[in-house]
Amino acid sequence: MSPPTTVLVTGGAGFIGSHACADLLDHGYEVIVVDDYSNSSPQVLPRLERVAGRFVGAVYELDIRDRRALSAVFDRHSVDAVMHFAGLKAVGASTRMPVAYYDSNVGGLTSLLRAMHGHGVHRLVFSSSCTIYGDAGHGPLPETTPARPTNPYAFSKWLCEQILKDVCLRHPDYSVLCLRYFNPAGAHPSGLLGEDPRGTSGNLMPHVAQVATGRQEKVRVFGGDYPTTDGTAVRDYLHVLDTAEAHRIALDHLVDTVGLRVYNLGAGRGSSVLEVVAAFSEACGRPIPYEIVSRRSGDVAELVADASAVDRDWGWHPTRGLAEMCHDAWRFQLLNPHGYAGAARHPGEKR
Ligand code: NAD
Ligand code: WQD
Repeated sequence: MSPPTTVLVTGGAGFIGSHACADLLDHGYEVIVVDDYSNSSPQVLPRLERVAGRFVGAVYELDIRDRRALSAVFDRHSVDAVMHFAGLKAVGASTRMPVAYYDSNVGGLTSLLRAMHGHGVHRLVFSSSCTIYGDAGHGPLPETTPARPTNPYAFSKWLCEQILKDVCLRHPDYSVLCLRYFNPAGAHPSGLLGEDPRGTSGNLMPHVAQVATGRQEKVRVFGGDYPTTDGTAVRDYLHVLDTAEAHRIALDHLVDTVGLRVYNLGAGRGSSVLEVVAAFSEACGRPIPYEIVSRRSGDVAELVADASAVDRDWGWHPTRGLAEMCHDAWRFQLLNPHGYAGAARHPGEKR
């Protein structure tokens, strides 16, 4: 079986999807983007084409749950494999809008699987998340760690993995790689692509970047009494470019994957909130004010990947560290102080 050359990327205008598209284009793949821009902007596409120096093969503005429209895309293109990034991702919002989250993430996947099945496309790289481990405890977590999802978003990702497992059991010709990302962060070094800081995710890195520009007064550090070295919570941050590269490498391994495989994507090394603040301060050359406030509900003390499986099987490991993530996120913030102009509608508001 030959490796995929035409890749359909759902959510290709989003934070991770746009970097994956740029990387795919850069490596000669034909890229078809599907996105409804519910949490992104079409303005990302010319930027990623500029970064890659090539055009995206085709772009479709559609909701992947629109089966007819999605099927028409597969009718028009000879797709070899799919990278599925589209979905909703904010933990807090998922507790307020559980139905929207299950509908988008689980309904989106089943719609995609129907379209793939109907067109004989059986190769998929799926965006899963470390969030399914929940409060799994201390130390690096291998993929065998029992899932303990604690919110609708995490449950939706866990359900997606179960659906994919069942599909692979029933249809032996499927090859599916579920990549459980830890904390993707940073931006493209060009400053053209990054994480739109107007999103509702509440993630740490965009918040720190906004404080660095003075748009927000100080970083609110959620919890200073965790059982960690400095009392603040520890996460495994992974540069978005490393995340994108891992997806391209996954495409090659779809060819030798039978059924479903699950891999953690992380650095295998944790950084505390205060370490992130210090690294960002170093990157932007100014002190970043912060205040330790009470813990954020649902947060855990430490989430760090045991990232050895993907290194052992594919020889892949991230090559960019926290300093580079902060430098790149800072450059994106400076060049795009308001994110992608005229960008996102908020997730859940569109329907
Ligand atoms: P993002 O919101 O930036 O990108 C998702 C993209 O999908 C957006 O462009 C959005 O407009 C699009 N989209 C959403 N619903 C859609 C639908 N129904 N039809 C078509 N397009 C739709 O998010 P991201 O950070 O790039 O995350 C990508 C994937 O990775 C998501 O599935 C997310 O759950 C997963 N993930 C993200 C992180 C993270 O920290 N960013 C960590 C683990 C897993
Ligand atoms: C990182 C650390 C906060 C904001 C989330 C999802 C997870 C995955 C990655 C999708 C935590 C602290 C944060 C702030 C802070 N996404 N923090 N002040 O919560 O580790 O993971 O994104 O799958 O599923 O849950 O990421 O960036 O929100 O927080 O102190 O203003 O920074 O407490 O320790 P998180 P995050």
